[in-house]
Amino acid sequence: MMQQIKMNKILVTGGLGYIGSHVVVELQKMDFEVVIIDDLSNSSLEVLGHIKEITGIKPGFEKIDLKEKRDVARFFNRHADFDGIIHFAASKAVGESVNNPLKYYENNINSLIYLLEELNKLASPKLIFSSSCTVYGQADKLPITENSPIKGAESPYGNTKIMGEQIIKDCCKANHSLQSIILRYFNPIGAHDSANIGELPVGVPQNLVPFITQTGIGVRGELSVFGNDYPTPDGTCIRDYIHVVDLAKAHVVAIKRLLEKKNLKNREFFNIGTGKGASVLDVVKAFEAVSGIKLNYVFKDRREGDVVSAFADISKANKVLGWKSELSLKDALASAWKWEKKLNLNENTI
Ligand code: UD1
Repeated sequence: MMQQIKMNKILVTGGLGYIGSHVVVELQKMDFEVVIIDDLSNSSLEVLGHIKEITGIKPGFEKIDLKEKRDVARFFNRHADFDGIIHFAASKAVGESVNNPLKYYENNINSLIYLLEELNKLASPKLIFSSSCTVYGQADKLPITENSPIKGAESPYGNTKIMGEQIIKDCCKANHSLQSIILRYFNPIGAHDSANIGELPVGVPQNLVPFITQTGIGVRGELSVFGNDYPTPDGTCIRDYIHVVDLAKAHVVAIKRLLEKKNLKNREFFNIGTGKGASVLDVVKAFEAVSGIKLNYVFKDRREGDVVSAFADISKANKVLGWKSELSLKDALASAWKWEKKLNLNENTI
């Protein structure tokens, strides 16, 4: 009889969302079995089919709202056999979090607490947590290393990431069998090259790249470039834009590190970026180069809460995780543009 090889089973919370769906694809490509839970508050069930179009495998799915403590407990009573958990489920609109802070503290903090309560019941729980470079604020030194001080965030959303990290750290100190890796993403952009999955914009995009692609396609009249008097070479802010597929691969490497027990501590932190800073105008130019479109943009006042410059020191991720980004800014914008064109085509055919 052929021996059955057991695949590692990974739970992905928020796995139908922008980053989560890309991570599910990369996990399946590496032969992990994936179960998604998602409350569908900012995602669509159709994503399951789109994932299958890429990998040939439809992931497992249950609609669970992680804020519902009893539902979370019942879910884990039925499935206690996960080898690892990757936690994305969270609200993420910075502006909305300023206007409705309690929604963010309830959604992002309660759900993490209920998840950790269940993980604490497992024999050797392994958790990857999705954090953000927003925890560094305007760092005093660039590039930003993992040792840069955690500054107060500008928004309740940012605060939930700082608090989430702290909660996980405290739980790891209390429960030595809990193993965690916290990934601090810089600016994720782009979409899967197949254009089957990408970011589904809700309302007017707050982030730069969806605004650029919507302007390119004519949904928006012009891009406002927020500030051209910053102390940077071209006067516009600098960020570290990372292709979402590169970012997704970092999660696979991170969960493998925990599964193979290679982690040195039960809480580790990694910056996930390209290590290269690009200004707003660099992004505009890269978009123009890949799309062949001249983008309509105007300079406006600075946006409140923006830091001048943020880009990652990626040497720790490179040396310790053995991960580094492979795709360029142009690759990312080309994929974002392909995705925008597909979204527009679908809208026009409905
Ligand atoms: C934002 C969030 C951050 C989150 C990240 C996820 C804020 C303050 N921060 O980061 O917490 O983790 O998204 O991707 O919202 N810009 C324009 N015109 C636009 C939109 C943006 O000029 O219409 C500029 C911004 O001023 C900034 C750069 O583009 O300099 C990037 O902006 P954005 O994509 O919103 O990302 P961040 O603000 O870096």
